[in-house]
Amino acid sequence: MQQPPLAAFFRALLAEPRKIGAIAPSGGRLARLMTSEIEPSAGKVLELGPGTGVFTRALLKRGLPARDLTLVELEARFIAPLQKRFPDVAVLQRDARELAAYKAELGLQAAIVSGLPFRNMPIEVVSAIVSGGFSLLEPGGAFYQFTYGHACSVPEDVLVALGLKSNKLGRVRLNFPPASVFRISRKQE
Ligand SMILES: C[S@@+](CC[C@H](N)C(=O)[O-])C[C@H]1O[C@@H](n2cnc3c(N)ncnc32)[C@H](O)[C@@H]1O
Repeated sequence: MQQPPLAAFFRALLAEPRKIGAIAPSGGRLARLMTSEIEPSAGKVLELGPGTGVFTRALLKRGLPARDLTLVELEARFIAPLQKRFPDVAVLQRDARELAAYKAELGLQAAIVSGLPFRNMPIEVVSAIVSGGFSLLEPGGAFYQFTYGHACSVPEDVLVALGLKSNKLGRVRLNFPPASVFRISRKQE
């Protein structure tokens, strides 16, 4: 696996600061916490907003087979670097707001790992992405999301309306900026 293409990150950040929503790629500690519950034998995993691939690398390091991982990234500048760095992983240039429409193509997923900048998105968009994500998640599947805040970046109203709950896995102080990780799952499970 090659090193992260940081130049691509900073070019994208300068051009599209709201879409990127971070001043630096996530650190290794945050990546380990984000992926800590995903076993190598979990099944299919979807990553949203991989950017330079910090979480992708952590998932592969945990032993998840590359064939089980699909990346959905909107920003064109990240696509070729991701394909080069992870040649055996499916990299799709798609909009996470349209997830429900990709159900037939992607199939059911065991987990979703999201680096999307929810705090920069309108509540309707967050709701559409989470709802679309759960339409792809098999029973017992979980959606992992980080945020620089202390509270879950999916508002409680949205969780309740979608029949979901959030649990905080922890906070990584030694990330820049510090970040919290949440597991979002169905309430009735
Ligand atoms: C905060 S960066 C996270 C990058 C990486 N996961 C990390 O933690 O370092 C947000 C990523 O989400 C992507 N993104 C933003 N909106 C998106 C959308 N609607 N669909 C797919 N990707 C999106 C951005 O292009 C960027 O790569």
